[in-house]
Amino acid sequence: MRKQIAAANWKMNLTLQQGETLLDEITAAGIALASNQQVIFAVPSPYLPMAEARLGSFADFDASAQNIYHKESGAYTGEISAAMLVSLGIKFVVIGHSERREYFSESNADLAAKVDIALKHELTPIFCCGEPLEIREKEGQNAYVAKQLEESLFHLSADDIKKVVIAYEPIWAIGTGRTASTEQAQEIHAYLRSVIAKKYSDAVAGEISILYGGSVKAANAVELFSSPDVDGGLVGGASLIPAEFIAIIKALK
Ligand code: PGA
Repeated sequence: MRKQIAAANWKMNLTLQQGETLLDEITAAGIALASNQQVIFAVPSPYLPMAEARLGSFADFDASAQNIYHKESGAYTGEISAAMLVSLGIKFVVIGHSERREYFSESNADLAAKVDIALKHELTPIFCCGEPLEIREKEGQNAYVAKQLEESLFHLSADDIKKVVIAYEPIWAIGTGRTASTEQAQEIHAYLRSVIAKKYSDAVAGEISILYGGSVKAANAVELFSSPDVDGGLVGGASLIPAEFIAIIKALK
């Protein structure tokens, strides 16, 4: 049974002390996860050891990196390798967030290489896809996101793609307060699953968690997550507010 996941994406926010307080407030809520549920905190890289230490005793609460470099090691000043994350006990890494694609020019091919090195080191990639507003306005979103999957994921074997978590995040909904409607989210999630089923099989597609991201908050999480193909959310702004993120975790199926 595929996991239902609430993933926080702190982006480049919070001091270490603020991050500690946020994690402490969320874990103090004593949320008991069901066996199909998972909570992930994608924190800034310097905070990974802190997050790992704080979350270590909570089953299925894990820290995640927000990015990795596609090389094993070497003269790449400022970059972070998969082996470094593994050495910290990290199990997850966000790959291909739209902000990385936009501000750091990460291409589908670059992201394929990042997915490969993550899987090689047994890190779970949280692979982001999603269309910009001008594509949605022309109703080109299906072809756009299918191409993102094809070019970054479809070289993987069936066994490997099952290890990937996908986050569908329409760029026009990220940080804008404008959320995709429940119908829009379900429609494109079902479409993504059908594209995976066509390339691999229904069984493989059925095992992959597809999260929705883009202005998820306590007020819309229950409805969004109730859709059959929406397996939780990747949450930016609302993940910085304890009560909001706690409610989002509780909204998981
Ligand atoms: P948001 O960000 O929830 O602030 O819209 C989501 C994301 O970028 O992952």
